[in-house]
Amino acid sequence: MVQAIAIIQNEHRGLAAVLSCLSSVVRDIEDRSLEPDFELFHAIVDYIESFLDRFHHPKEDDFLFDRLRRRHPEAADLLEELEDEHRCGEVLTGELKAALEAYENEGEAAFQPFREAVETYHAFERSHMGKEERDVLPLARRYLAAEDWREIDEAFTANDDPLFGDSPTDRYRKLFSAIASRAPAPYGLGQRRTREPDARRGTLGRA
Ligand SMILES: [Fe+2]
Ligand SMILES: [Fe+2]
Repeated sequence: MVQAIAIIQNEHRGLAAVLSCLSSVVRDIEDRSLEPDFELFHAIVDYIESFLDRFHHPKEDDFLFDRLRRRHPEAADLLEELEDEHRCGEVLTGELKAALEAYENEGEAAFQPFREAVETYHAFERSHMGKEERDVLPLARRYLAAEDWREIDEAFTANDDPLFGDSPTDRYRKLFSAIASRAPAPYGLGQRRTREPDARRGTLGRA
């Protein structure tokens, strides 16, 4: 079993779960059944920024895509498109972060742009991960040699930052657990902070 493939797929599953949770929470806020939880939103944006943009994508670019480009040059256009998406993803993360800050500072007036930034980011990453799993991983399985996988596996399983505190992998695991325990049921294990009935649109509203 190639360890790097299992790690990439696991990391994709984790990210898909976090983004699906974020979208669901935002939809419930829009339905006015849930209060916003900015601590949860910041934890999710931190996860995206530090895990995806600084850890997951660079490993794909520097090892998996690099070796596949050498072994199967016909994949060059596809790999270039995915590398462009990694850069574009960082821009979208910045826009999501800015939209979150505006929502936190300006309140409900800035909710719609935040909701749109969440949906844009979610759709973008879902499509990106789909291309990697559907198009890149089968090519990698087919064209990479055992020595390529040895190097790629080593990079993906490396336990970095051994001197101070947790390794990045431990840190992301903890951040993921914190998100799962804080996210409201049924999307996570946390309590739902619902709005007061008279604050909901169309229900028990004051005259
Ligand atoms: Fe990627
Ligand atoms: Fe990926």
